Amino acid sequence: MSTLGKKTVEDIEVKGRNVLVRCDFNVPMKDGVITNDNRIVAALPTIKKLIENGGRVILCSHLGKPKNGPEEKFSLAPVAVRLSELLGKPVVFANDDNVAGENAKAAVAAMQDGDVVLLQNTRFRKEETKNLPEFSKDLADLVGTDGAYVNDAFGSAHRAHCSTAGVTDYIKDTAVGYLMEKEIRYLGNAVNDPVRPFVAILGGAKVADKLNVIENLLNKVDTLIIGGGMGAYLRARSALCGVFRRGFHTGAGVPRIGRLFSADRQRAGLVAPRAFRTRRTRTPRAFPHGRRHGLFGPL
Ligand code: 3PG
Repeated sequence: MSTLGKKTVEDIEVKGRNVLVRCDFNVPMKDGVITNDNRIVAALPTIKKLIENGGRVILCSHLGKPKNGPEEKFSLAPVAVRLSELLGKPVVFANDDNVAGENAKAAVAAMQDGDVVLLQNTRFRKEETKNLPEFSKDLADLVGTDGAYVNDAFGSAHRAHCSTAGVTDYIKDTAVGYLMEKEIRYLGNAVNDPVRPFVAILGGAKVADKLNVIENLLNKVDTLIIGGGMGAYLRARSALCGVFRRGFHTGAGVPRIGRLFSADRQRAGLVAPRAFRTRRTRTPRAFPHGRRHGLFGPL
């Protein structure tokens, strides 16, 4: 058992066993081509360790946000190809709209020690995001009674879905992967025992998802710098609000963002961009002032 208090891939015996590994292969794609494979590369240490130790590695992940079940543009097929190149060995893609259906069962039944199978996008099953037991059980059945489960999907760790949480009701031998371990260790130390001044930099586009994180961090940090798409959104004013809102997942959080940004920025040093640059406007442009359509008070 590691100092994390959780089992890691170092702690489980996997030889000859099926191991379901939840990765975060939610990579950016354009016209079926992966435009950034960082998340696949980040998953390699865990996958390689399980292969080396003779596990039968069954990978799963979500990709994008399919709303109505299977959609070709959200298929994980390109990820299987890239992963195979990076590992230098075949990755069997179980192209099964049901994710854990007949194709997946056949692929798993044919596995030898050290083989790798990638399942289809977990969100092709509507139960996934609702964390319903049917899909969790299907995943567990695929792995079998002697199977193990490894969670290495740090980017999805905030989601209680079948493949990230529900499945552990049925697979009892569980561990975290190297990526998850590294992130927990790093974040845990940084947040719970910070060296001061404690400055946190937060990016990303999914504003609503990050509100709790921002609120929590504001109680701990000396300065919070919000950048990336989210920073642009938070800083957006006037007519620009409309432009930026289109690209961001704000959900129901907009009024909360306004409150947070105007009140809490004074309590802690909350810093957002003063200028922005897009692919079209290569020269940085300042955010215009004026509150006509703005959500936030003056900075
Ligand atoms: C991410 O890209 O932030 C993670 O993969 C989680 O994706 P999600 O917001 O679609 O759950």
